[in-house]
Amino acid sequence: MPAEKQGDILCFFINGKKVTENNADPETTLLSFLREKLRLTGTKYGCGGGGCGACTVMLSRLQPATRTITHYSVNACLLPLCQLHGASVTTVEGVGSTKTRLHPVQERIAKAHGSQCGFCTPGMVMSMYTLLRNRPQPTMEDITQALAGNLCRCTGYRPIIDGCRTFCQEANCCQANGGEDCCQKGEQNPDEPAHEEKPRLFDKEEFLPLDPTQELIFPPELILMAEAANPKTLTFRGERVSWVSPSSLEELLQLKARNPEAPLVVGNSNIGPGMKFKGVLHPLMISPTRVTELFEVTRTPQGVWVGAGCSLTEVWSLLEKLLPQLAEEQTGLFRALIRQLGTLGSLQIRNVASLGGNIVSAYPNSDLNPVLAAGNCRVSVVSAAGGRRELPLNQDFFVSFGKTILKPEEILVSVFIPFSRKGEFFGAFRQAPRKESSFSTVTTGMRVFFSEGSRVVQDVSIYYGGMGPTTVCATKTCAAIVSRPWDDETLSQAYNVLLDELVLPLSAPGGKVEFRRSLTLSFLFQFHLEVLQKLKEMGVCVQHVITEEIPEKMQPLPREIHPGLQEFQHVPKDQSDQDPVGRPIMHRSALSHATGEAVYCDDLPATEGELFLALVTSSRAHAKITGLDASEALRLPGVVDVITAKDIPGQKARKLCGYEEELLAETEVVSCIGQMLCAVVADSRSHAKRGAAAVKVAYEDLPDPVFTAEEAVEKSSFFEPRRTIERGNVTEAFESVDQVHEGELRIGGQEHFYMETQSMLVVPVGEETEFNAYVSTQFPTLMQEAIAETLSIPSNRVTCHVRRIGGAFGGKVVKTAALACITGVAAWKTNRAVRCVLERGEDMLITGARHPVLGKYKVGFMNDGRIVAADFHYYANAGNMADESVLVVEKFLLHFDNAYNIPNLRGHAAACRTNLPSNTAFRGFGVPQSLLVVENMVEDVAALLRRPAHQIREINMYKGPSVTQYKLEFSPENLQRCWEECKLKADDQFNRENRWRKRGMSIVPIKYGIAFSDGFLNQAAALVHIYKDGSVLVSHGGTEMGQGLHTKMQQVASRELHVPASKVYISETSTNTVPNASPSAASCGTDANGMAVQNACQILYQRLEPIRLRNPKGSWESWVQTAFYEKMSLSATGFYKGPDLYMDWDKKEGRPYAYFTFGVCCCEVELDCLTGDYRTLRTDIVVDIGRSVNPSMDIGQIEGAFMQGLGLYTLEELKFSPSGLLYTRGPSQYKIPAVCDVPLRFNVYLLPDSSNPHAIYSSKGIGEPAVFLGSAAFFAIKDAAAAARSESGLVGPFSLNSPATAERACLACASPFTQKVPASKPGSFKPWALNI
Ligand SMILES: Cc1cc2nc3c(=O)[nH]c(=O)nc-3n(C[C@H](O)[C@H](O)[C@H](O)COP(=O)(O)OP(=O)(O)OC[C@H]3O[C@@H](n4cnc5c(N)ncnc54)[C@H](O)[C@@H]3O)c2cc1C
Ligand code: FES
Ligand code: FES
Repeated sequence: MPAEKQGDILCFFINGKKVTENNADPETTLLSFLREKLRLTGTKYGCGGGGCGACTVMLSRLQPATRTITHYSVNACLLPLCQLHGASVTTVEGVGSTKTRLHPVQERIAKAHGSQCGFCTPGMVMSMYTLLRNRPQPTMEDITQALAGNLCRCTGYRPIIDGCRTFCQEANCCQANGGEDCCQKGEQNPDEPAHEEKPRLFDKEEFLPLDPTQELIFPPELILMAEAANPKTLTFRGERVSWVSPSSLEELLQLKARNPEAPLVVGNSNIGPGMKFKGVLHPLMISPTRVTELFEVTRTPQGVWVGAGCSLTEVWSLLEKLLPQLAEEQTGLFRALIRQLGTLGSLQIRNVASLGGNIVSAYPNSDLNPVLAAGNCRVSVVSAAGGRRELPLNQDFFVSFGKTILKPEEILVSVFIPFSRKGEFFGAFRQAPRKESSFSTVTTGMRVFFSEGSRVVQDVSIYYGGMGPTTVCATKTCAAIVSRPWDDETLSQAYNVLLDELVLPLSAPGGKVEFRRSLTLSFLFQFHLEVLQKLKEMGVCVQHVITEEIPEKMQPLPREIHPGLQEFQHVPKDQSDQDPVGRPIMHRSALSHATGEAVYCDDLPATEGELFLALVTSSRAHAKITGLDASEALRLPGVVDVITAKDIPGQKARKLCGYEEELLAETEVVSCIGQMLCAVVADSRSHAKRGAAAVKVAYEDLPDPVFTAEEAVEKSSFFEPRRTIERGNVTEAFESVDQVHEGELRIGGQEHFYMETQSMLVVPVGEETEFNAYVSTQFPTLMQEAIAETLSIPSNRVTCHVRRIGGAFGGKVVKTAALACITGVAAWKTNRAVRCVLERGEDMLITGARHPVLGKYKVGFMNDGRIVAADFHYYANAGNMADESVLVVEKFLLHFDNAYNIPNLRGHAAACRTNLPSNTAFRGFGVPQSLLVVENMVEDVAALLRRPAHQIREINMYKGPSVTQYKLEFSPENLQRCWEECKLKADDQFNRENRWRKRGMSIVPIKYGIAFSDGFLNQAAALVHIYKDGSVLVSHGGTEMGQGLHTKMQQVASRELHVPASKVYISETSTNTVPNASPSAASCGTDANGMAVQNACQILYQRLEPIRLRNPKGSWESWVQTAFYEKMSLSATGFYKGPDLYMDWDKKEGRPYAYFTFGVCCCEVELDCLTGDYRTLRTDIVVDIGRSVNPSMDIGQIEGAFMQGLGLYTLEELKFSPSGLLYTRGPSQYKIPAVCDVPLRFNVYLLPDSSNPHAIYSSKGIGEPAVFLGSAAFFAIKDAAAAARSESGLVGPFSLNSPATAERACLACASPFTQKVPASKPGSFKPWALNI
């Protein structure tokens, strides 16, 4: 530690304003400083670990060497405040505002409908803004790179990309015919049917132009500060940590010699997550960012020395810049590094993560280290005592997990990257759970050297990441290749050696053992092909060196996202211009979202004396609590109290589906990891969290936890009742069919991953036990009731307010109520406002997910394709509490006919009680799982009959007047129409020409029942006030969570009152304006609330009728004023008594839905059979939603739901340890779709000429149905895998569980490489993760 001098003053700029901090705490991130200290809440918290981009801001710095100013996007959640000295930060508030001037980025993302819940929008704006600061006319590639690290859970990205696309010159056309003969030359896009002028979702002609001269300049004071600098050491001291930033290498070395354990903090992308997620405490942190030697670049005749402090973006730009200056043969290693850098992390991460940091962090799956090592790179290290030394970056450098041979006091100064030689070739390959912004599963760097004109290997090195605790060298494999000719025979032997050499234990951390091993072979094979290509190009004879012809050149999967089509109907010609119904009106808060002005729960300013609540959760899945000791926590600074079940004055448990659910574990037995035990309240977030970590819980494990559906069945562990339904006589029908087949499908769960985590603030009013609860919830009434019951007070003492929700998807109902109750108890007990905002990891651990399902089926069918009988068994993994699981499994059976008229159909559904966190509602409420099993059965039938699956679907589809299995009559006419519109003919030309790439296609229908089958929930109310100035305030029972409900209600009020939509305002949803409202769920928010708002408005409009008749030419304002003076009430409530829906499970019949929404989706994918990577080339969706109230909202719902479905079925994997701990607790481990997953062509068509008598203005609900349409991607992958299998002689049905991740898709392809890996015998080892 340096002398105990006073801390320095930290000085930097935010949005052009100087900030000076006397007591900068090294543990404070820029994000918390912005949000909590400066109250700049536009920058959002989504994950805290650099994985979601919600906190993106722009950082600008003066580069002293070049005197240039660089702007780059960064994650504020990873940026230590102390790292900001001398920098300028721009946040979304500094970019533009609705009060002054909108920035074109904000305007375009908003007007292109790129914002739904809006929580991701400021981050998107900032990524795009930073790009435009650097490149005012970006390419599409620039845009997709810039947005790759920004997650959005609502939109499906297409509208965001289309908004951003308007900045880019080259891509403003349809790109039909590769840009030739396209729309801009007056030609029709061939995908578009000829029409007269079609309505568009937005008009780019009205956008503000981009004017770079309007941007904030870099503060001159910072330039003077940098230039005048008489560099001195900077020191900042916090509560627990000190920070020192030396100004010279010498000083740095001395400091490190005195404090060898103190880490160097450069990008903080390793240190930061370690501190945050693993609780690592570094009492001293050293920032070397002002030591110039660490940033120097020196070119020598042999290569280039790159300063270890350079960011990965700087390394990338440097290498790119050198490419044209060098002969091609010299650039092999540079190109390999560029290839890896292109997909390493996100741009925000690469902008801060340093080269040295990546090397020294020695991640097992670092993408750079294998390439640097294979490329014979060296590092220069220095220490005060040992001086300078050079070390080769080889297998000896990487010692073990996270460890290198550097001594603790040594500093990595620079890295030597050599030029390559003639005859020297490099390979760099990686495979990751998601194509971008994701750590690799396996990654590799390879190098081979041939002397001129020869294909005999002189030298070879092969390194892998992801195949052990650290970067590993395949030494024996290299030995098997060196001195031998580069041909099939050599490589075949090399594969065998490699298999023996890189053996992973079957329970290796990370799992995917077979896949990882097969990837090592696939990568070597790809390198083999690439080298052959290169040798051929160099004129070396490569004929007959491999058994097949040199196959296709392995190009990366296509990635350019083209503009999609969105087709919807014009409003009728006679509709007034003022009437917004049926028009694609922008989300009413979109501009507030894009400027960061929109207020979410955690953006509410802290009230005096406010406390923060952190939860203590069980770390055992099935155990007895033998002790809970909070004494140490209570002694910690800032901790105020600990809340246990004993503190609850009212009901300690909530009842759901007939089962009691304790809020805080009161009985001694805990039944899952993540179960809430108690809560700590403290004066700040960090104090509360430290307090929670200090609570000691002692357990005694109980035997035989139940984790999987199979175990639950074996032990008969269910939440009752289990349900069955049958139409026809299935048993008998099996006797008369041509063929019978049995199959099984497992579908993993899905995390909601709403971008805004569970958030609430409960404020005691101060008298008569009254409370205001501000909660991010879909169901304010439930919050009110639950808090009241828990506190044993009447409901009239609790008002729940919901302004907006940053995404919910079903996850902010039941679990939120439990959290709100606990927060309420804390507020009641301390008599202070208490805020609870879950960290992403806690949220994922505690609040449950979509139910994983095991589906089994037996199907009887005729040789002509008719399915005559089917029997299904569904087992949902409900977790430790019932929640709504029984209702979810009921929904399996209410939908499992899907679009098919199977005359003899039987289903059984059970909710399994297990020792995993309890699962809950999720968009689709079980339908997406149920139908996947049904469609898989259809695919099996098709495979057995060797017919295309779409034919089997067509043969069995409902036609004419139809009846469901619960005896509800309906017409499938619009389903048929959707099908016909969507049908496309598969073209298998591509597959015949390509061995390692396959295309697959699938077309999938859905029939989705809308409304609550519990009839009493189908009601809604609204309260409409007209004020004297003519402005209208609408309140209704629905909540705004991104689906655009408030916008639609504004449209309804505008139409009914005959006033412009701008006169109508919706402030919030609250239980004191509209009582007893149903949840915003079941896709019927618009149907029900729309009717209620319509009712209230019609009452008011009629009330004004006498005045209107007296003064027909008068203005709205004049009528309102007259009404006021005539003492007429200008306020009305509206009510909607919805249909009396029901389902009688004893009689097995009912009318559980008001109507059906129909849709069909066709997807085409391209699959890389060697790695399992795929890309959706095209998606066409046709949906019947009656007459849309707002086509932009509805298309947004369809696209967003499709992408969520695509995530569910192809990407998102919840992984649990064998002891029941959720491993996947953040975006680093759990991958939701990102920009790189958007279909390259994404077209949505709303079925024209459809109507619906059951909902407002003849519209239909659309929030949930399209999730299932994402399964078209699943079946397209399966189709592609089937094509690959057929080349290995494998035909007929095969098993592919959901999600069809790269791992599963690759193994399903059964390539020669996957087949080489010996299959593990289930039961012979303890897998790393449970197979739930
Ligand atoms: C969301 C996310 C995604 C990522 N994705 C990828 C990916 O796809 N592929 C990949 O390879 N990596 C990935 N990373 C890892 C990232 O590349 C590394 O964390 C980063 O390169 C480390 O550099 P840093 O400057 O941030 O290190 P810091 O966190 O600042 O420091 C890390 C460690 O390095 C030491 N150190 C740093 N510089 C020196 C030096 N000059 N001399 C001696 N010791 C030093 C420090 O003491 C410390 O122990 C990802 C990280 C995140 C957060
Ligand atoms: S909050 Fe910073 S990246 Fe997620
Ligand atoms: S709009 Fe992107 S997360 Fe909701």
